[in-house]
Amino acid sequence: MIRKILNAGCRASTTGNMQLYSIVITRDSEMKKALAPCHFNQPMVMKAPLVLTFCADFNRFNKWCTLSNAEPGYDNFLSFVTAAIDALLVAQNVTIAAESEGLGVCYLGTTTYLAANIIEILKLPKGVVPVTTLTIGWPAEYPDQIDRLPLEAVVHQETYNDYSDEEIINFYHEKENRPDNKAYIAENNKVALAQVFTDIRYKKDDNVAFSNMLLGVLKEQGFMNQ
Ligand SMILES: Cc1cc2nc3c(=O)[nH]c(=O)nc-3n(C[C@H](O)[C@H](O)[C@H](O)COP(=O)(O)O)c2cc1C
Repeated sequence: MIRKILNAGCRASTTGNMQLYSIVITRDSEMKKALAPCHFNQPMVMKAPLVLTFCADFNRFNKWCTLSNAEPGYDNFLSFVTAAIDALLVAQNVTIAAESEGLGVCYLGTTTYLAANIIEILKLPKGVVPVTTLTIGWPAEYPDQIDRLPLEAVVHQETYNDYSDEEIINFYHEKENRPDNKAYIAENNKVALAQVFTDIRYKKDDNVAFSNMLLGVLKEQGFMNQ
């Protein structure tokens, strides 16, 4: 089943058909134990039978170029973004393939926070940067679907139609007033949902610190040489 899912994943479109990604499978419990702190010990890393780390990867392609007497020019930020896009498209195809088998998945955004530690644990060489992780397993429960903004909030006709204050308030009104989100705001001792994001979940200081760490990783992995 894993091969079937990964095969479906790798049918994702890829820039120039270069396949600028690698997927590292983690099933061994010792490896999961090593990875868990890199994901702030989110419990699914240990609990899910399968952990997949999706990496932007120019290492393999660069090696092929060099062996073919072709000079690779991919040690720059654009190349990282290109490879990251390829890796994320595969991850989402894997998600759909896994869900179509009845499995459940959870993305881990923590991958780009402590990427340096993941690089060490998974022995990722230069040219390889982890960009996201999927934990995959049989779902223990089937929770209600989580809300999305109305389509009109995210779709623009022909050109970007910037939002008035009134539109912003209207678009977020339903989200803010759902009973689960009201409880969530109260639990976090805040008065607005946005404050849970800015003051607790994704704080400026943390963002700046992790952003600097990621820039360091990109430099170390050879993507900031130009
Ligand atoms: C890139 C990315 C990173 C995410 N990181 C985490 C994470 O670290 N932990 C977690 O529990 N959920 C994570 N999620 C799941 C989101 O919180 C979830 O998709 C969102 O709340 C909407 O829920 P739904 O996908 O069930 O509709 C992540 C999702 C994405 C796309």
